[in-house]
Amino acid sequence: MKTISTIADLRTELAALRSAGKTIGFVPTMGALHDGHLSLVKMSKSVCDITVVSIFVNPTQFAPHEDFSKYPRPIEEDAALLATEGVNFLFLPEASDIYPPGSSTFVIVEEVSKEFEGFVRPDHFRGVATVVSLLFHIVTPDKAFFGQKDAQQVAVIKRMVRDQHFPIEIVTGDTLREPDGLAMSSRNRYLSPEDRRKATTLYTTLAGIESFMDSGYSLADAKLAGMKVFSEAAPDAVLEYLDFVHPETFQRVDSFNDAEKIVVVIAARLGSTRLIDNIILSPKT
Ligand code: PAJ
Repeated sequence: MKTISTIADLRTELAALRSAGKTIGFVPTMGALHDGHLSLVKMSKSVCDITVVSIFVNPTQFAPHEDFSKYPRPIEEDAALLATEGVNFLFLPEASDIYPPGSSTFVIVEEVSKEFEGFVRPDHFRGVATVVSLLFHIVTPDKAFFGQKDAQQVAVIKRMVRDQHFPIEIVTGDTLREPDGLAMSSRNRYLSPEDRRKATTLYTTLAGIESFMDSGYSLADAKLAGMKVFSEAAPDAVLEYLDFVHPETFQRVDSFNDAEKIVVVIAARLGSTRLIDNIILSPKT
């Protein structure tokens, strides 16, 4: 694995491979890697000749009060994991290269970015779309891999790629979970042992909603029953949202008449840590 920190060096390396007919897969990350990230790396390795992984804790997607400065940066462990996976290039750019001084161009994906994460974290998706667009211009991959764990991020990126005519296929990987159902996340390491035990409540709430739907509940009734599951299991956690949305538009839906598949999205705060999760539901046939 080659570690590269400048845009020019990465472009030179990839241009040579591209003209030799190699396909390029790209997995953008912010590091503190876990098996969820590595599952995307494996997908890329299985379908592309060359795999590029970036680690860049992107300042523009964090609000001033958020965890940018304390976001974990175990770079040596991360590099070792990626080398073991057989990644070809680790791209580790400096913030001053990605955002040259005076940088003032942003990518805003309207509508899809508006509710849920976009409402709780204004400007978050502006930062995500901007950095992913920049990285796409630098790497120019054939395929880029994103986790379903961040369902709204997937919707935003897919819309950006469509609207801006990026010749890149967006591939989505399933959410990897801990044995108790908690979705893997770099932020799980912030949880106290007690909050870690309660964190599984996000998944049990989603699984509960799925079984209420299987028993014939309406979406509205399943939501109410899900809220009850959540508040009984973690009374001191703060449920920020629990809702049913269209996977592409991230607009609320009231029934399966509004969408072929529905994403059930949940966000909650345990202590000072925010966690998000989701599952996809299909109509019963
Ligand atoms: P990060 O949180 O590091 O996540 C990198 C990729 O890993 C994202 O596509 C995310 O959805 C995926 N991922 C995270 N947890 C996962 C899990 N449990 N199972 C499967 N995939 C998982 O998402 C970002 O970074 C940033 O916003 C980024 C896209 C890199 C832009 O800065």
